[in-house]
Amino acid sequence: MCGIVGYIGEGDIKGFLLEGLKELEYRGYDSAGIAILQNDNLHIAKAVGKLDNLIQKSKNIKTKGFGVGIGHTRWATHGKPTELNAHPHQGVFSYVVHNGIIENFKEIKAQLDAQFVSQTDTEVIVHLFEKYFNQTKEAKKAFEQTIKRLKGAYAILLITKADPNKIFFAKKGSPLIIGKNEKEIFFASSDAPLIGHAKEVHYLEDDEWGVASAHTMELYKNGGGKSKLSFQPLTIDKEYAQKGGYRFFMEKEIYEQSDVIGDTMMGRVEEGDVHFEEIEEGFFDGIDAIKICACGTSYHAGLSGSYLLQRLARIPTSSEIASEFRYKEPILRKDTLFIVISQSGETADTLEALKMAKAAGLKTLAICNVDNSSIVRLADRTILTRAGIEKGVASTKAFTTQVMVLWMLALLLAKQRATLTQEKIDEETKAMLQTPKALKVLPQLHERLKRLSKRYLHGHGFFFIGRDLFYPLALEGALKLKEISYLHAEGYPAGEMKHGPIALADPELFTIALMPRTLLYDKIKSNVEELSARDSTICSIGHEWFELADDFIQIRRWTHPMLEYYDMSVVLQLLAMEIAIRLGNDVDMPRNLAKSVTVE
Ligand code: M6R
Repeated sequence: MCGIVGYIGEGDIKGFLLEGLKELEYRGYDSAGIAILQNDNLHIAKAVGKLDNLIQKSKNIKTKGFGVGIGHTRWATHGKPTELNAHPHQGVFSYVVHNGIIENFKEIKAQLDAQFVSQTDTEVIVHLFEKYFNQTKEAKKAFEQTIKRLKGAYAILLITKADPNKIFFAKKGSPLIIGKNEKEIFFASSDAPLIGHAKEVHYLEDDEWGVASAHTMELYKNGGGKSKLSFQPLTIDKEYAQKGGYRFFMEKEIYEQSDVIGDTMMGRVEEGDVHFEEIEEGFFDGIDAIKICACGTSYHAGLSGSYLLQRLARIPTSSEIASEFRYKEPILRKDTLFIVISQSGETADTLEALKMAKAAGLKTLAICNVDNSSIVRLADRTILTRAGIEKGVASTKAFTTQVMVLWMLALLLAKQRATLTQEKIDEETKAMLQTPKALKVLPQLHERLKRLSKRYLHGHGFFFIGRDLFYPLALEGALKLKEISYLHAEGYPAGEMKHGPIALADPELFTIALMPRTLLYDKIKSNVEELSARDSTICSIGHEWFELADDFIQIRRWTHPMLEYYDMSVVLQLLAMEIAIRLGNDVDMPRNLAKSVTVE
């Protein structure tokens, strides 16, 4: 996740670029940069950290009259957040900003004899463009040839002294919008930077590319002919734009999951194989056990991961709540890999647990969403979840991407430890590649949950129950509900209900039963029957119709438990959100909570 902006016109170029980047800062803020071209004069500034640093660094840039400019705010995927890795990237006479991941950048890089200065995937774009330009002497042709070579996801803006008054643009997978008024042309990753500037906007489709100048705009389809521009009035206000039209950031983030899970996998998963660029061969040598430590939702992801690591890689794995772990005088053995999971990378208890593990000489690995955070800086290795900034206090996309990283890790270790056949690895990777589908919110499902939510606003509590992998998911479903609805909810292992909690069963006790058809279906069915027999109100979530359920939420038919897991995750998140909305709560900022808990 990064944000990009562009400008063509005679107005305040620098002002638009910097203000636009401010609007997009939520998409990433580990570094930022701008490049402005006025005839042959180039002004470029880059800075690490928040946008304010770039504002300071670009103070001396003064522009007057016509020019073109591009800007970028970065969320590192390849290469550390340094000034050299910050965009715009430059060749000899051209400059580029890019949001996305170029999957085949290594292959392209190997074929270019340009001078590379960054560790990013993006830099190949500008060198490739210049190579083609030097051959054809035609900027448009060179840009078209460049785009044809790129695999992966991108929104690209490129300016060049070879054809100085234009912006070359392309989109695939990552968002890009063109805006215009009578005098100026704008580009941005979302509507927000365009509000107050553009009167009309065109939302680019995947595989579209083109070239814009002050007076002309050409649009093409990659591999096809011309495409049609269809500008529409821009009428929305700022807050609406930031939320992408959703009522809450949480809702936007739930809907985003099906895209961001693709970012989590990008360049890491293909059919039959999983790898992480961040982890060198041999890193796991000598590891015979794994301990996972985290808080809240991240702990639930970790607990899910412990089932996956044990099952797939046959490696003893335990998952612990960081605040408990710290004071129990844990026995830490050097053959144990210590994994910490954190969305923010700043959670105090998780950070302290990591320090303890490091002090005991364990190998450490962070699974984190925020590059350059305290946890990332301290851990030996980090796998970034690439979920993009999560604004809702109730974690959603951070959770599903954390679980994905753990699933991939389990498979990588299974491969290294030869605990699975290639056939089984193929099966797992095929399922992974289907997760974007499983996380897709179906409108009819959302509608059903909206309606259903009105029946769950009272009562004396909720039990979310599940077995195996669906037990941590039940914990997560309960946490989601309690933190935003303020209703009492507990997650419980379904088989454990009869050891005490079943005493609470009555019609005012709501049981949310996770009933996957692919994992222990008959077992969970018996547990739910026991509750139904004691008159608990049952809401079952699964594919198979369950006759004893008072309410039934049907998910799609999947053949892999993890796909059922992901489908159900969305159901639980939406259900909690709809109940909280009906209760009139501020879903994004629930009472008494903070997004990042940096105190013990
Ligand atoms: O940033 P972290 O993942 O370390 O945060 C851990 C918890 O504070 C966090 O998951 C919290 O439980 C969320 N509000 C849950 O939605």
